[in-house]
Amino acid sequence: SVQHKPVRIGFSQRTMADNWRRTMLTSMQLELSFHPDIEFIVKDANGQSARQVTQIQELINQQVDLLIVSPNEAQPITPVVEKAYHQGIPVVILDRRTASDAYTAYVGANNVEVGRTAGMYAGAVLNGRGKVVEIGESPGSSADIDRHRGFLDAIAKRPGIQLVSKLAGDWDKRSFADELGQLLKSRSDIQLIFAQNDRNARKAYTVCRQLGLADKIRIIGVDGLPGPNEGIDLVDQGMLTATVLYPTGGKEAIRTALAILDKKPFQRENRLPTTLIDSSNVQITKLQYDRLMEQQADIQQQSRYISDLTQTYASQETALYVTLFS
Ligand code: FRU
Repeated sequence: SVQHKPVRIGFSQRTMADNWRRTMLTSMQLELSFHPDIEFIVKDANGQSARQVTQIQELINQQVDLLIVSPNEAQPITPVVEKAYHQGIPVVILDRRTASDAYTAYVGANNVEVGRTAGMYAGAVLNGRGKVVEIGESPGSSADIDRHRGFLDAIAKRPGIQLVSKLAGDWDKRSFADELGQLLKSRSDIQLIFAQNDRNARKAYTVCRQLGLADKIRIIGVDGLPGPNEGIDLVDQGMLTATVLYPTGGKEAIRTALAILDKKPFQRENRLPTTLIDSSNVQITKLQYDRLMEQQADIQQQSRYISDLTQTYASQETALYVTLFS
């Protein structure tokens, strides 16, 4: 028989150091488990743009059939992604963006909308009046730029809401805790913190609690992962007032990649839905996740069963062949 070269998908991930990205990878792997013929090469840039550029170049040199990239910062990652694209490697951009439209498809939620949702909610819970602090994402990332823009858009419609300060939220490099502590001590009028991810929202909560301000200051996060001490649970525990659910898009990225590789129709812009979770819908959201987890376990059980059956069948076939023809 003819030996085919396996199809290879290269995935350049900005970091693996957090649960949101581990969840993304798991959902990619789950989707890929239905396509055991595909080789999946994952590179972790550890939050460093220079390293991500090198790793994307390595994937180009290895001549992968398709590239999935979740950029650390937009600008520094742009030239090498453009290079891959112009060399004819299909590129799927996932979650954060580059600063260019040289890509085959994009998968992710709209971060301007994420910021706007948070801003509108802030305006509503504060009844249109109050001082707020924002804690960003990694500086220079499209997530940070877009979430900030959306948040500003929304609060601009509420003249009584004032953004006092925006702290850098590059959680994987340094902590904003001291800076936030100083700010809250020097200004007693701050009523709400918008943290651009739940990880930072949780840290902000700890700072507030240490200062005895936990009951006074509301906190809004982003991500809304299921599981203990993740966003949904933090809303349930009352540490966060709300979180904006930001889906990882892992499964959708793999589906889009496979459609591109199979020359099937696909959408260039794949906008994933976001939604806000607060005390009014946190219970139903938890229940839905539990059911989803059960279903996922069922699927895994079933696929183990099918692969056992296939093996039994293969060995019976061999036995039959031996009986008939030897
Ligand atoms: C994880 C993360 C998420 C956030 C996303 C934005 O690395 O910081 O918390 O939603 O990246 O790109």
